[in-house]
Amino acid sequence: MITQEQILDALKTVIYPNFQKDIVTFGFIKNITLHEDKLALLLDIPSTNPEIIKQLQEEIEYKINDLGIKAFHLDIKTPSKPEPKTPRPKNLTPQIKNFIMISSGKGGVGKSTTSANLAIALAQQGKKVGLLDADVYGPNIPRMFGLNGSKPNIDSSGKRLIPLKAFGVEMMSMGVLYEEGQSLIWRGPMLMRAIEQMLTDVIWSDLDILVVDMPPGTGDAQLSMAQSVPMSAGITVTTPQQVSLDDSSRSLDMFEKLHIPIAGVIENMSGFICPDCGNEYDIFGKGTSKSLAEKYNTQILAQIPIEPKIREGGDNGKPIVFFDPESKSAKAYIKASISIIEFLKKVQEEQLADNKNIQPTQDNSHLH
Ligand SMILES: Nc1ncnc2c1ncn2[C@@H]1O[C@H](COP(=O)(O)OP(=O)(O)O)[C@@H](O)[C@H]1O
Ligand SMILES: [Mg+2]
Repeated sequence: MITQEQILDALKTVIYPNFQKDIVTFGFIKNITLHEDKLALLLDIPSTNPEIIKQLQEEIEYKINDLGIKAFHLDIKTPSKPEPKTPRPKNLTPQIKNFIMISSGKGGVGKSTTSANLAIALAQQGKKVGLLDADVYGPNIPRMFGLNGSKPNIDSSGKRLIPLKAFGVEMMSMGVLYEEGQSLIWRGPMLMRAIEQMLTDVIWSDLDILVVDMPPGTGDAQLSMAQSVPMSAGITVTTPQQVSLDDSSRSLDMFEKLHIPIAGVIENMSGFICPDCGNEYDIFGKGTSKSLAEKYNTQILAQIPIEPKIREGGDNGKPIVFFDPESKSAKAYIKASISIIEFLKKVQEEQLADNKNIQPTQDNSHLH
């Protein structure tokens, strides 16, 4: 009488083609049904390659025959689609390793302030960083970076732009290409072309990270951007009021739909520390984004209080992270930048594993 143990032992001698481990160790055996001397096996393998399937079939049949089993049925399940888990968008700027999309449901919640300070904080961590102001409707980054009125140089071909640079960060914005106060009306295809141009017609270096400051909402700009480059991380900026949280939830939904890994939530204008008395007042509330972060299985990257110095820094082109790095808010941005770097590492590792398209599981407990 053949036992399940003997069958498993026989299968343990079947090496998965092109690898060094056997099909049992990989966890590919999903079911063994043994009734008297009738055996049915179910295998679940991560390949659709007919060569591999044929090779496995022959070898398993050979080994099972060897045990003296005559009535044998083998089922091999293969992935329904051979592509990796998430479809990869095209990459218009393959020299850039990571892209971070900063978005928000509403305008005025501090998206640009966050983008500017995070970009500088990431650069301070030794990364090569660029900041793309993709808020074509309200490009505020040039002012926040002290580059209002600066015009980018054009390269020798006369066709491509050299990004501006400040605080160790490369920067490009629609705001430096048009006259101040000039308002532009963007229709779908034009908007898409503008976004593509800011990626392809700008000579970005081999950046570790490009931080992208988006217009508020979840519209064409976000979609165009996500289709142009493989976004490595999405961050949503919210203020603590319920109405802002509602809109941020749409923003997080959008990340999920566009397959953008969610790095976390920045709760901005979270409490106010009175500069005169030092007391803290929760003007818009505080800590309310916790449940939002939990709902999307993500983290609060930072809680940034309302601080006059942040607003002044924005208006005067003196970002707080650079000019007052010892302040509580600057430290919070710096801490967030460290968490973001860790998150990007994790995303990269997961993508590598995805590309290998094989994730061995050691758990065979269901077989015993
Ligand atoms: N934590 C903060 N404390 C004080 N002022 C802030 C803070 N965050 C943003 N601001 C100010 O609020 C205004 C809107 O911020 P901004 O970053 O332009 O928002 P968004 O890009 O989301 O429209 C700016 O004047 C900015 O300086
Ligand atoms: Mg903005």
